[in-house]
Amino acid sequence: MKREDIFSSLSIDKSLANKYDFNPYYCCIESGLNDPILIDGKEFIDLASNNYLGLAADKRVIQAISVAAGKFGASMCGTPIATGSMILLQKLQKRLARFVGFEESIIFPSGYQANCAVFMSLAKQEDLIIIDHYAHASLIQGVRLVGCKVKPFLHNNMKHLRKLLEKAAEYKRVFVVTESVFSTEGSIAPFDEIVKLCEEFNAIPVIDDSHGIGVIGKTGRGILEEKNIKDFNGIYTASLGKALANAGGMISAKSELIEYLKYSCPGLIYSTALPPPVLAGMEAVLNIVKEEFSILSERMWRYKKLISGCLIDSGFILTEGQAPITSISVRNVEECALMAKLIHANNILVTPFIPPSVPPNESKIRMIAGANLSEKTIDKALNIFKKVARELELK
Ligand SMILES: Cc1ncc(COP(=O)(O)O)c(C=O)c1O
Repeated sequence: MKREDIFSSLSIDKSLANKYDFNPYYCCIESGLNDPILIDGKEFIDLASNNYLGLAADKRVIQAISVAAGKFGASMCGTPIATGSMILLQKLQKRLARFVGFEESIIFPSGYQANCAVFMSLAKQEDLIIIDHYAHASLIQGVRLVGCKVKPFLHNNMKHLRKLLEKAAEYKRVFVVTESVFSTEGSIAPFDEIVKLCEEFNAIPVIDDSHGIGVIGKTGRGILEEKNIKDFNGIYTASLGKALANAGGMISAKSELIEYLKYSCPGLIYSTALPPPVLAGMEAVLNIVKEEFSILSERMWRYKKLISGCLIDSGFILTEGQAPITSISVRNVEECALMAKLIHANNILVTPFIPPSVPPNESKIRMIAGANLSEKTIDKALNIFKKVARELELK
């Protein structure tokens, strides 16, 4: 194949964006995650970011980041195994581990990298990985890299998971992989039941708590606190770029396993460590969570209830989310594009999910209202949703 032909075969289909004269992806935000945010010089309500507790632009976090930049600079210019393992990183690894209920953790440059790397270190070709059908793309990528047998189980369906485990005796090692809070649905995994099934069938549970950490559990410690799971004997991963409002990913487990991963996980060993200011920002967020979680979380949940109540009353169909995520179910990508365009035209930023980010025919428009938004902003958003519903003639 000629080089020109190779490149021209790599173009993407933009017919939907062209048809609706609207492309919601890679939109260019000109401000921090404030209330409001700025896009093209216009004020927008941010219902798109994963800024659950509203701490991404908190003054105390910004201050901690500035102080750390002054003291430690922008980067350690090295991987954690070489020169990137600094005092801030080591302290934060311990603190995060304790926060979510483990002995140790390691911090990766991103949650995606943690999920992609962990399976390559743990699983072998002769193993079986059973994974929730709705699991995040980073888990699916990670699992595929192993090259072992992979079986999806129906979303949160314990009967189906049991059936697959009953047929898994021939495999050397079996892993059961799921998310805690499903990022597009807002559903929550019955993880206590999954852990019990894993114990019964000697399988290893792997949980991605990216949308649970800082969000669920009485004090924001995520899925293990939420489901009251003690002595968890499995693997825990999470993104630090959502409720914890910074960047990076973590893996937590028992100490020996973390020690093994420290020397075997390619996504950790071969990638530059997080910059010092980010680590300091995360410490600041954990301090705020410790003091203010109940206030922030009450606001986050109240906003979620107001938004979902208003959308249902206005005729939108929602997914059955139990988390502070509100997702409108749409019939197809066309409806998704039209609805997202109308919402965007009224200056609300939301996230449209279309395949391959979600399974075929399961497009959605997702909203997360962070605790930084004011009551007035939420009121304004509700009025806009009622107006959009009238424009779409939903009732
Ligand atoms: C469930 C889940 N896991 C992992 C990731 C990846 O995390 P990060 O953005 O830190 O790479 C995301 C982010 O999109 C996510 O939603």
